[in-house]
Amino acid sequence: MTSIISNPCRLPGIFSLVLLGFATAFGTLRAEDRPLYQDASQPMEKRVEDLLGRMTLEEKISQVHGDSKFTTPAIPRLGIPVRWLTDGPQGVREDVGPYNWRSAGHTDDYATYMPSLCALGSTWNLDLATAYGNVLGQETRKRGKDIILGPIADIVRTPLCGRVYEYFGEDPFLNARMSVNYIRGVQTNDVSACVKHFAGNNQELGRAVIDMDMDARTLREIYLPPFEAAVKEAGVWTVMGAYTKFRGEHCAYSDYLINKILKGEFGFQGLVMSDWGGTYSTREAVLGGLDLEMGTLIPGTEKELPCDDYYLARPFLEGIRKGEYPVSLLDDKVRRGLRVMFATHAFDADMRKPGSLNTPAHQATAQRIAEESMVLLKNAGDALPLNVSNLTSLAVIGDNAVRRHATGLFGAGVKTMHEITPLEGIVQRAGDKVNITYSAGFSKAGATNLAERARLIEHAVAAAKQADVAVIIAGLNHSRYLDDEGWDRKDLRLPYGQDELIQQVVKANPRTIVVLIAGPAIEMDPWLAQLPAVLQAWYPGMEGGTAIARVLFGDVDPSGKLTCTYPKQLMDSPAHALGTYPGTNGTLFYKEGLLVGYRWFDAKDIEPEFPFGFGLSYTTFEYSNLKIVPGQDTNGPVVTAEFDIANTGQRAGAEVAQLYVHQEKPALSRPPKELKGFKKISLKPGEKKTVSIPLDQRAFAYYDPAKTGWVSEAGDFKILVGSSSRDIRLQDTFHLAQTTVEK
Ligand code: BGC
Repeated sequence: MTSIISNPCRLPGIFSLVLLGFATAFGTLRAEDRPLYQDASQPMEKRVEDLLGRMTLEEKISQVHGDSKFTTPAIPRLGIPVRWLTDGPQGVREDVGPYNWRSAGHTDDYATYMPSLCALGSTWNLDLATAYGNVLGQETRKRGKDIILGPIADIVRTPLCGRVYEYFGEDPFLNARMSVNYIRGVQTNDVSACVKHFAGNNQELGRAVIDMDMDARTLREIYLPPFEAAVKEAGVWTVMGAYTKFRGEHCAYSDYLINKILKGEFGFQGLVMSDWGGTYSTREAVLGGLDLEMGTLIPGTEKELPCDDYYLARPFLEGIRKGEYPVSLLDDKVRRGLRVMFATHAFDADMRKPGSLNTPAHQATAQRIAEESMVLLKNAGDALPLNVSNLTSLAVIGDNAVRRHATGLFGAGVKTMHEITPLEGIVQRAGDKVNITYSAGFSKAGATNLAERARLIEHAVAAAKQADVAVIIAGLNHSRYLDDEGWDRKDLRLPYGQDELIQQVVKANPRTIVVLIAGPAIEMDPWLAQLPAVLQAWYPGMEGGTAIARVLFGDVDPSGKLTCTYPKQLMDSPAHALGTYPGTNGTLFYKEGLLVGYRWFDAKDIEPEFPFGFGLSYTTFEYSNLKIVPGQDTNGPVVTAEFDIANTGQRAGAEVAQLYVHQEKPALSRPPKELKGFKKISLKPGEKKTVSIPLDQRAFAYYDPAKTGWVSEAGDFKILVGSSSRDIRLQDTFHLAQTTVEK
């Protein structure tokens, strides 16, 4: 590729060498001769302006579009380094490209494979969200990357969405809390997080073309809060725009979303990048607030466009030269990118944290998160935990008992040093005392071969018959139309004949336990009533097998809770009940409005299979003594809900106490309840603790489009405290004395 602009499409390695020479030369300068931007003691804005003022037009242009799949170029003359981006939400991706998605064939690009974000969300443990971010930040730093493309803060609107396993869940408050801590964890390591996909991407089907039609209140109350919190509370440095359109404008350069809301109202000072191949026009991108264009393809093809021809490359440069765009627009984009570089100490090598990779501590964090994420959905007759001392044989069944899930994904794949499968974990935990057999039960390879299916089921049934207990490791994988980017699921049922398998096995052995490796949600109707125990294990990461075994054998108490409603059938879910999926003539009408997830099931009084916030434990918890304590914070009046939780069972365990708010007579209609606080509490048997959950002004507010602000109305609010959204244990009423509007 030849170039008309400064640094297009050269291999980053060359830049690094040039940069090294440059940095060495710089190092010999006396401090007073060094340019201001090289002085780490100067305020960031001064450094940014100083450096910007030294850049030529062409150099500036080189910083607003990619020069390979995941880089922007160095400018050796000024000491600007190559800027490296990397996926993804659940571990630092292996190196690809530079101009395609194929593995780069490196041997030093292994990383810790963390449990998926749906698992992290299900821990409801914010310290673990910070720890998760910290692992990613340290590993990103060590791998020499600057921006990691996570977390995903999008809302689960339909359980069919192929990426729900990468999402935290269906609730904006929970997503916001998780995103904030994840981002803080990442960014303490001189690495920028990149919260994505702003704002939408609620389905994969048609994501590149679909136009979202939703009202302002739904946008503000459901889809924006995690992004707003990411910007205002976590100070995220980078945001990725979604592929989808919003009211006719591509999200990555929607004047309304990016210029007015994100950069205007939220005060975002960092960098907005496109999703890969999500830029389609120079003019709209320039004016709509896009700061960095990545991954553009030749229109109508899957082929890479030469980087010089990206919309924000030559066409933008020529537009400026012709006077179509003021240089100030380009300056703003470059300035934002430079801020991220200064914030991550890209110019201050001696200050930059070193990072660390694949450490035992990171693996231990992965395991802890996996253990805390698992949701015990059913446990009739205390079928779990299993006890090795009264078990002689165990039949482990299922393709997912031996399948590894780390690689082979788009943005979420990780090249991991190891991935402990469920079978390995179970054998490791109990193999010396219990006779363990394995039978595949179902197969991805022979998915449509009915004779093979029958044979596999027959073998599994025979194995189950001979064992004390059968454990079926069932679920999905990252194949097309399952949990996979780019395609949605076609239904919520288990693939490969697993419904039949489970029914046959439980007939042969009533002590059958199902463990699900999958994102949310699965329809379990054909077999749920027939078997005693179901454990939702998500995609539990590289230590997942160990974590599953530890939960099954009771070494740890299952303490995860669902972050998505499991409908009895797909048609109970709002988008499907209202026929608003997958959109009509390219438009996706968000007809359910605010009634996403449990808000819909509550409002319409539909019984879910498992409600939002649900999860059993091996022990029991008792709630008592709710007090609403009025208080004051710097932003106005707040209250704190205080209550006691006691562990009334025989084992140590952890409970996620959830606080929902219900407004008695709102001027605008509101969902019956909204999550506004939660806390995870660990308790020994017999132990009791007092839990405090503070509520700020926003906890009581709804967004009023007419007032363009958040209104907390004077009046009565019910404070509902419970173990799930459908298991409210305590309630009280709080009277808010004054109406306030927060703009
Ligand atoms: C995904 C992003 C990802 C990007 C780069 C896109 O297809 O939507 O989440 O970060 O690819 O791999």
